[in-house]
Amino acid sequence: MEYLPVTVDKSHLITIGERLYSESIELIRELVNNAYDADATEVHIKMTDEFIEVRDNGTGMDREGLKQYFNIGSPEKISKAKSPVFHRDLIGQFGIGKFASLAACECFEVHTQKGDFAAKVTFDKKEWEKEGDQWNLPLQILPPDKERGDGTTVTLLRLTKAFEPEEVMRKIVEGTPLKASNFVVRLNGVRITPRSLSGHRIPFLEGTEFGPVHGEIIILPSSTASPVELGIEVKVKQVTVKRKFFGLEHWGKTLSRIRGGACRFSAGHHRSFRVCSG
Ligand SMILES: Nc1ncnc2c1ncn2[C@@H]1O[C@H](COP(=O)(O)OP(=O)(O)OP(=O)(O)O)[C@@H](O)[C@H]1O
Ligand SMILES: [Mg+2]
Repeated sequence: MEYLPVTVDKSHLITIGERLYSESIELIRELVNNAYDADATEVHIKMTDEFIEVRDNGTGMDREGLKQYFNIGSPEKISKAKSPVFHRDLIGQFGIGKFASLAACECFEVHTQKGDFAAKVTFDKKEWEKEGDQWNLPLQILPPDKERGDGTTVTLLRLTKAFEPEEVMRKIVEGTPLKASNFVVRLNGVRITPRSLSGHRIPFLEGTEFGPVHGEIIILPSSTASPVELGIEVKVKQVTVKRKFFGLEHWGKTLSRIRGGACRFSAGHHRSFRVCSG
């Protein structure tokens, strides 16, 4: 019996980032949700034409944590029930979200601090592709900065895409748990607040074979009805995974007055929820 080696081409990591997150703006959601999972209370996003920086005051990473960061496809968050400090339902599940950054830049840096440990790791597409079969990244150990405290800053350099602040704002409102307590996200210094709609609110709680689903349907006054962002948001762990009409497609113009959100109570995987949302 002979054995055939299974290998992964180094360029595959870049392909994952560029192809899986084809809507490159998704990288912002991935970075903010990683901060949420790391028990951050503040996330500061700074966007300029030259760079995008996402800084959190979460738990930060030590050497082991950084190794975990670059463990591709790790199901670590699926095996952990909750975050240690705020007992948050962890959003991450696939262990690849960090590569979403590659959809919009040539290079990203992860600068992190946890207690006495501080370091910076650089993932540069060009260097990564140049280095033959070496699966290593440059790690620079730094003196800890007491003022900075624990936390992680991811900086995207040599940007390949430009984003409109409004678009980024919308992605954050939709794709991150802004309504969670102790969680504030700022974009270029401005706090991003969750959407609030006024209208006739109808709360609901339904038992399904996947567990209880709760939410509310809002009927907007016709004066505020809008064809933008139609439908009912399907949320898992407070993050919108889909918008659906639930059979209301035939209502014509009236559809623009129906909004709402449905969320599963307990932690679960997107996959199982999608089935029950149909
Ligand atoms: N801001 C952060 N602070 C502390 N640890 C982090 C941070 N971002 C990522 N990590 C660590 O790096 C790991 C990899 O992050 P990555 O986003 O690639 O995967 P994930 O969040 O586990 O899953 P998903 O692919 O669904 O996002 C995380 O599981 C976490 O342990
Ligand atoms: Mg993630």
